[in-house]
Amino acid sequence: MKTIIEPFKIKSVEPIRFTTKEEREIILKDAGYNPFLIHADDVLIDLLTDSGTSAMSAAQWAGIMQGDESYAGSRSFYRFEAAIRKITGMKFIIPTHQGRAAEKILFSIVGGKGKYFPNNTHFDTTRANIEFSGAEADDFLNEIGKHPEIRADFKGNMDIEKLEKFIQEKGKENIPLCMITITNNSGGGQPVSMQNIRETKEVCTKYGIPLFIDACRFAENAYFIKIREKGYEHKSILEIVQEIFSYADGVTMSAKKDALVNIGGFLAMQDEKLATQCRNLLIVTEGFPTYGGLAGRDLEAVAQGLEEVLDENYLHYRIRSVAYLGDKLVAAGVPIIEPPGGHAIYLDAKRFLPEIPPYQFPGQAIVCALYIEGGIRSVEIGSVMFGKNDENGNMISPPMELVRLAIPRRVYTQSHIDYVSEVVIDAYKQRDKMRGLKFTYEAPMLRHFTAKFEPV
Ligand code: F0G
Repeated sequence: MKTIIEPFKIKSVEPIRFTTKEEREIILKDAGYNPFLIHADDVLIDLLTDSGTSAMSAAQWAGIMQGDESYAGSRSFYRFEAAIRKITGMKFIIPTHQGRAAEKILFSIVGGKGKYFPNNTHFDTTRANIEFSGAEADDFLNEIGKHPEIRADFKGNMDIEKLEKFIQEKGKENIPLCMITITNNSGGGQPVSMQNIRETKEVCTKYGIPLFIDACRFAENAYFIKIREKGYEHKSILEIVQEIFSYADGVTMSAKKDALVNIGGFLAMQDEKLATQCRNLLIVTEGFPTYGGLAGRDLEAVAQGLEEVLDENYLHYRIRSVAYLGDKLVAAGVPIIEPPGGHAIYLDAKRFLPEIPPYQFPGQAIVCALYIEGGIRSVEIGSVMFGKNDENGNMISPPMELVRLAIPRRVYTQSHIDYVSEVVIDAYKQRDKMRGLKFTYEAPMLRHFTAKFEPV
């Protein structure tokens, strides 16, 4: 088989700034060993997130020029609406400025004290919006998804039995909707199978609970279904995504992922009464229902991006280029969540640095080493992000200590990725030099964004 090439030519380039290792040591120390606090100009390869970091196509930039900025009834809105309806089949489509704005509106209406919202794994903002409403967010990830070293096709799947038991326990009247997140970001970017989406829908239907899909990475998930699930190998990506959404009663989406744009999102549903309530709240918080916190040009870019993301050559390259990095790391013995997910490689910090205990943040130690060694920015997903202190001030750690290397869409070439693998492998070889960290500052909420550390 020949090399899988990037399915695009580069028309416009953006220089990256080189720094020396000595410079980076000072930059990182000044930032309190937290790469969220360094200037992006001091980063060589930025793998902090795949969200809002995509390179747009020439057709999307052309759409930007054609955006209709009418306050009401913009032509760009109707194009946006048609693109989303073609994919999701939803009757009511509500633009928002990003994913969490859609979540905020939805859960302000259906959430509240005494309510429960199950999901395979809630993303942080979804959980935060549910909890902010006074309700409870519950995760039902399949057992296999909790084992980083086991290779399986659909490690993002919902545990259907546990979900049904939970519904019986809490009472269907207390569960306004059930969610499923594709791909499962917090669980390693792992896909959910069509069978699992179908079975989740069957349980929901049995108890009269609507199913909402968090669709951030729906196209990447659909591609995994095509290559891994029996019966889908000859279907087009459009047919697969249409089947996925045929099981849904509603959708939230951050367009900053699979719509290949830098800003945008939407909320969509079949229920007219709920849509009316959402639109009324949208007018208060985001804007008029035909723009909802976006400019007309943004709506155009989303509509165009949603067409481009269904291109199989693109998805083949996208999924393969992430796996390419994963394969190189595995071949060198670097422990990662296997198999590689759709948008990121997750280093398993517990196996990478078994000597550093969770309360000294092994993931953060790796994040710092990757920055100093190679100017690569990554993010810790472990005790820094999710650790909580008990009443005696002892830290309760989450089950996994991970470092996410998220790959922006259409931004980096194969040689950038080769460089990333060289830096990670080098860091792994020198892992006995890495040191744990301790907080010098910690905010009461979402502490990973602003925390400061020093090496122990
Ligand atoms: N749902 C999932 C599964 C996500 O991954 C994100 C964002 C959101 C919802 C919220 O969307 O950022 O547009 O408000 N994930 C980003 C990330 C931030 O880095 O994984 P948003």
